[in-house]
Amino acid sequence: MKLTTAGESHGPALVAIVTGLPAGLVLDREAINADLARRQQGYGRSPRQQLEQDVVEVLAGLRHGRTLGTPVALVVRNRDHKNWAWGMSPWPPEGEPEGKGTKPVTLPRPGHADLAGAMKHGLADARDALERASARQTAVAVAAGAVAKGLLTEIGIAVEGHVATQDLEQRIDEARAERDTVGGVVEVVAHRVPPGLGSYAAKEDRLDARLAAALMGIQAVKGVELGAGFELAGRRGSKAHDEILADEHGALYRETNFAGGIEGGVSNGEDVVVRAAMKPLPTLMRPLRSVDLETGEPGEALVERSDVAAVEALAVVAEAAVAFELARAAREKFGGDALADFVAAHRAYVERIQWRMR
Ligand SMILES: Cc1cc2nc3c(=O)[nH]c(=O)nc-3n(C[C@H](O)[C@H](O)[C@H](O)COP(=O)(O)O)c2cc1C
Repeated sequence: MKLTTAGESHGPALVAIVTGLPAGLVLDREAINADLARRQQGYGRSPRQQLEQDVVEVLAGLRHGRTLGTPVALVVRNRDHKNWAWGMSPWPPEGEPEGKGTKPVTLPRPGHADLAGAMKHGLADARDALERASARQTAVAVAAGAVAKGLLTEIGIAVEGHVATQDLEQRIDEARAERDTVGGVVEVVAHRVPPGLGSYAAKEDRLDARLAAALMGIQAVKGVELGAGFELAGRRGSKAHDEILADEHGALYRETNFAGGIEGGVSNGEDVVVRAAMKPLPTLMRPLRSVDLETGEPGEALVERSDVAAVEALAVVAEAAVAFELARAAREKFGGDALADFVAAHRAYVERIQWRMR
């Protein structure tokens, strides 16, 4: 399974192509749109979220609600594009400049891709970098994640993301009053993941490495931990590992899950538990110091409509990223061109290892 996305923050639309799905999976349009709506909610978001009200369109790979086993093309349109029609026109715009995005961005924001992107690509207008670097693209990744969750449901796996930060609303209120921003921590838990997803054979196949890359691939995520994570470094071994016990029927279980459901890069049958730390958002209403790339003069960084916090949104985006990676690992393990083959392979496997879902 693979996800490829395209799209700029204020361009016409965001696009995702998901390959590697089996045929016969029923997609739930309401469930996908519900996840898109969840991504837009949360305390501290900017008014843009009311403007967008994202909905998914499917352009390919689906017939009468069922996957065809061919690439699925998903589209989320940017309703705000109408205000940027000239500034973000894919083709040379006609007529006089009007609307937003008509003036070049020359005061890069610290913490954004503005400066590094402009230098890397030789851009006179940092907008050419920031439009794609923006987390707006996570909308279509959430749609793809909702598709992945639908596939995982077929083999009993449920993935759920939530905020792990205390007193978030109060911190947001205080930051907003001072025209500042905040970050936070989110946690994603995947239930009923069978033992055996991922591999210890090669570093790129390790499930822990793959989940870390999936989470680190989300804008503003600067730290990832699995299970007890960083805290494990300070513990004794006797207090850091999950002892293996057998119940009266011989079924194996653990009383603890410090490992976060992965040992040796392979899922071990416990809940997979990962956390991601989000830095404070870098667009500040009281801007940080910057330098004008055109004149070399000191100035203040670009101010553009922006969230005070997006931690609750990150919980949804992280949930989608974990779901997609787990679905990918499950497709590798159970294969199948038809959904029924995939489900049957999972069933035969859990019977062979006598794994009891809890
Ligand atoms: C769901 C979500 C929403 C975000 N919203 C904003 C925002 O409104 N303003 C902002 O400056 N950064 C926002 N960010 C973070 C930036 O996109 C990110 O910091 C920037 O692209 C630079 O990438 P980096 O932080 O990974 O280095 C958001 C991130 C996520 C995951």
